[in-house]
This record gives sequence, structure tokens and C-alpha cells, in this order.
Amino acid sequence: MASSSASPSPTAWWTRPGLGYVRGELHVGGHAVGPLARAHGTPLYLYDAARVTDNLSRLRSALTARDLPFRVCYAMKSNRHPPLLRTLRRLGQCGIDTCSPAEVARARACGFAAENISFTGTSLSDADLNTLLRHEGLVMNLDSLHDIARVGALAPGRRIGLRINPGLGIGYRRNHLLRYAGGGGTKFGLHREQFPAALRLARRHGLIVEGLHFHTGCGYLTPQLPVLDEIFTACRDFVRRVPGLRYVNIGGGLGIPLVASDRPLDLAKWSVVVARHFGGHGHEVWCEPGDYLVKDAGVLVLEVNTVERKGRTLYAGVNGGFQLHIEPAFYQLPLVPAPVRAASPRARLQPTTIAGHINEALDLLHADAPLPPLANGDLLAFLNAGGYGASMASNHCMRGDFTEILLPAP
Ligand SMILES: Cc1ncc(COP(=O)(O)O)c(C=O)c1O
Repeated sequence: MASSSASPSPTAWWTRPGLGYVRGELHVGGHAVGPLARAHGTPLYLYDAARVTDNLSRLRSALTARDLPFRVCYAMKSNRHPPLLRTLRRLGQCGIDTCSPAEVARARACGFAAENISFTGTSLSDADLNTLLRHEGLVMNLDSLHDIARVGALAPGRRIGLRINPGLGIGYRRNHLLRYAGGGGTKFGLHREQFPAALRLARRHGLIVEGLHFHTGCGYLTPQLPVLDEIFTACRDFVRRVPGLRYVNIGGGLGIPLVASDRPLDLAKWSVVVARHFGGHGHEVWCEPGDYLVKDAGVLVLEVNTVERKGRTLYAGVNGGFQLHIEPAFYQLPLVPAPVRAASPRARLQPTTIAGHINEALDLLHADAPLPPLANGDLLAFLNAGGYGASMASNHCMRGDFTEILLPAP
């Protein structure tokens, strides 16, 4: 569960274009949140389309400035709301990253051509592989010797990519729950000692290794770029051993500020690190961000139903919990609670713990958030909820219902 970094003002650090109070009412993407919540009910996810496209164009500009051949594939596991996918498709500035046959099918249904879909999955069944191979042109990164052998048998001569664990990884603020690569027993990717066997196996089946894939981070920010630099040095070791690659995919993992003391990732510095390692070698550089594009574009709106002090803690109970957004409870990644009606400037902020309505001890959305006095019926918007919220939702306690709306640019 996330605990608050005590901020003197609950709004000072997270306001940004399109998000903030207008005449005392929280607005997202130029739309007032209160009337939307009253019209559609809560739990309600609101996604700011303009913010997603801004995030994408900022990332693209940083890579363009480095003069790199590149491709961005949006990781739809972070948010697969069809109107959002269709908007990105229409924009035509990115491909899409998928991790299951059903995600590939949704990407196709939303208009993405197979050649613009990158697939990187894990623990794939024969049925999964059969379904995937029907999408001719789908870019497939395989993460086990088993998958190489199976694809080799089913589709000899096919082009493939290999997902590699370069032996190092980084998570948000050294959060060990967010390790996608490195030592210590991650399930992902081919490990260093498997790499020669992977190349031999591919050769034996006539498979053409056209790409290498390294997803090594989750939520990293500027202070961690030196670690990313080390990781990329390790990745280059693999890249050198496969001549003629079409692409090197550096995965996702770009973070956004989650607490007041975080600063936005410096994309100019990030792209310098990327270009230093992967520029000028004849291959394209692909990346597949999820959170960076959608996390700060989404809010989850919930209603307060119980305000009560228990022991030393003031609890505000709300009509949603970790079944709607798993990250605070499971990954200790905070969502920022903000009142939908701005508090009076004279209101005294008090540490308030937001309790979800799921009968599990872990179901706290925020500990000791500095909030004005709350009452039943008040609306709270949880900021930075656009990634890995709805897409990871469950029906635990049969409380799985919620509404999602993509807000168009005003
Ligand atoms: C293979 C792969 N690519 C991309 C992503 C997207 O990561 P993020 O949302 O942190 O950018 C993930 C997330 O789990 C992933 O597993």
C-alpha cells in the first residue's frame, strides 16, 4: 500500500495541462469530473485522449532528435480500452505491443495491421502459438527455448525475435516487486547461458532471428538512467552476436512521477542513452511503453461512503478497491487521491487512509493522504490511474463493475 509523501498542498505537484481545478471543480482533459461522475455513476475511469497523444509525441520527438530509425509500440496491456486503441490507430504514430492471442485479436479489431503488432508473451501453449501464427506478419519475440522449438516445428523459416534477460533490471525507486529482468530468478526471457542454444535451435529450424527484445525496467526515472546505461551495455553484448538484425526492442518501463518528490523522466537524457548504445548500427530501435503513455492520462473516480476514526487512523471508505486498481496494494505504487470539489483554502488537511470495499486486509488505496475533511457522498479522483487499472481489474467479491470513458480533446 502506498503511503503519502506529506505534501503541503495536495495539488501542487501533480497539476499539468488539462488536469487541475477550474472554479473549484477538478477537470481532466478540459472536462469537469463531477458532472461526468453524476451522469455515468461511479466507479468511473476517465481517460484524457489529448494527454495520451501529448505523451506519445513527446517521446517521439525525443527519439527523432537523436536521428534514430525508431518505432514506438504502445503496450496495450497497460490499457486496452477500445476507443483509446482506435484513437492511437487513427493517429498513426505508433504500432502496438501485445502479450496474448486475445490482445492481438483486439489490436486487429481496432485497426492495427499484423505487421504493426509486436507480440511478446510468456508460458505459451500450443493453442496460443497456433492462433498467433495465423496472423501473418505478426512480429513475435520468443522468450523460451521451448517456444523457439515449437515455432520452428509449426512455421519453419519464419522470422522471429528473441526476448533476452540481459542479467540486469530496474524498477521504480528500486521496488523489487517490479523486476522484469536481472538475476534472482525472473521467469522472463532467455538467460545469458541459454543464448547460444537459442541461436542454434533457430538455425536448425531455418528461423530468421530479425530482432532482439529487452524489457528490463518498470517505472524508471531520470536518477536511474546510469543503471539503464549499464543494462544497455549488457544488451549490446547480445546484439553484437546477431548480425543483420532488423530491430532491437528496448521494451517499456519509462516512468512518470508518482509522489511529490519525483521529477518527470528527462526524455532528452533518456534518448541520448538509447542512441549511444543502439544508434548507427543499421537496425531500428523499438520501444514499447505502456505507463508512460497512459498512466497520467487516467483517473479513477470513487465515492466516499464511510468516514470513521479507528484507533489512531482516520479511514475514508470508498466504493472501489484493489479489484479496480491493483497497483497500490500489490506493487506499492501510489495513486494520488484528489477531492473532485476543491477544498476551501482554509480547510485543515488531515492524514486520511482510503479504504476500499473489498474484504481483504491489503485493500487500502492510500495510507495517510493529506486530505481535507471528507463526508459521505464526496467524490475522490485517484490520479495516475490510467495504466494497469482497468486492464488488471477483477471481479473479486463480485464488485467488478465500472465504467470507462475516453474524453476527447475539448
Ligand atoms: C514485454 C513488455 N513490454 C512492455 C511493457 C510495458 O511496460 P510499461 O508499462 O512499464 O512501459 C511490459 C509490461 O509489463 C512488458 O512486459
